[in-house]
Order: sequence, then structure tokens, then C-alpha cells
Amino acid sequence: MYEGDIASVLLTEDEIQARVKELAVEIASRYPVGSPQGDLLLVGVLKGAIFFMTDLSRALPIPTQMEFMAVSSYGSSTSSSGVVRILKDLDKDIAGRNVLIVEDIIDSGLTLSWLMRNLSSRDPASLQVVTLLRKPDAVRTDVEVSMIGFDIPNEFVVGYGLDYAERYRDLPYIGTLDPKVYEGDGGM
Ligand code: XMP
Ligand code: MG
Repeated sequence: MYEGDIASVLLTEDEIQARVKELAVEIASRYPVGSPQGDLLLVGVLKGAIFFMTDLSRALPIPTQMEFMAVSSYGSSTSSSGVVRILKDLDKDIAGRNVLIVEDIIDSGLTLSWLMRNLSSRDPASLQVVTLLRKPDAVRTDVEVSMIGFDIPNEFVVGYGLDYAERYRDLPYIGTLDPKVYEGDGGM
């Protein structure tokens, strides 16, 4: 699939799946079953976190519930500006719940920083973040990310939910995109 578009495989399907299982163990240790706050509420950020969310939830040995939020951060297709708009909000109230944001990737951290402020204002009992990937620039953000799958180099990556112009999400691995794919494209 996508012959010639992927420059290199950064994380194989096996590596991703193994790390997801480790993260699930870590998460389960932080949220005791039968807490008065009820089941852990996973809040997946669409669309990038979709595969991570479904794999993680099935790897978790504790009961969880799912909500999704879709936001768009303005900027080019390969970087974000920090100006965030809600495209789809949560269906349910999260007041008093243990909430775990499930993110695909943190780059500048601007999107997550906004999301944390937005969800905090809804009074959850707790609010933590798990991200599959983190890029080097993320160290400069103020957001405390509880759990990270992989630290990756500062390259644009696709696959396992991550897209370029809505393509490549369906790849089971994560790879870097050959620059020829987006060269000459002003961003979309
Ligand atoms: P910030 O900079 O706000 O960006 O932390 C987070 C959002 O930017 C997108 N993003 C990427 N998407 N490959 C992608 O497919 C990448 O390498 C990449 N880096 C950032 C993504 O939507 C993420 O939620
Ligand atoms: Mg995207």
C-alpha cells in the first residue's frame, strides 16, 4: 500500500502493540477498580487517536467508558498554531469522573494545552493524559503528560491513525512520509 510514499518505518506494528500493552498495565495500576468516581473515562481525540484508543481500551484489564472529541488546530497541515476549534464535543458531562485523555501525538503541545484547560473547567475528579507519540518540541510545553508511548524525532509521521491529508491512517505501523508527498503542497 502507498507504494513509495513511506520513506522509513519508525515503529513496527509489533513494537506499537507491545508498548500499548505496557501502557495498559501502567494505566490500570493508577486507577483502582470500584472507585467512587466510577469507570475510567477515556477521552479519545479524533481522528488520530482512534486506533490507539481501541487497542488501548481492549488491552486495559479494567472497565472503561469512551468519549470522543474532535478539535481542529489552525495552521498548516503539518504544524499547529494553538488556535483550537471544537468540531465535536463530548456527549456526556465529565464532572466528578476520572478522565484520561488519549492522544495520538504531542508536537508543540498547543492542542493538548488547550484541551487540558477546556476539560479541567468541566470539573473532572482527575485529568491525566496518555499519548502514543511525543516529538522533541513538546518538552517546552507546560502540560504534564502522565504517560508516553514513544519519543520520536522531529519528523512528520503517518500511520496507525495519523494522516497526511486524511491518507495513511489505515497503516498498521508508523512511518515517516517521503517529503515528495507534501512538497509543493501549501498545506491543506
Ligand atoms: P501540537 O503541535 O498542538 O500538535 O502538539 C498536535 C497535533 O498536530 C498533529 N501532528 C501530526 N499529525 N503526523 C501527523 O499526522 C505528525 O507527525 C504530526 N505532528 C503533529 C496531530 O493532529 C496532533 O494531534
Ligand atoms: Mg492530522
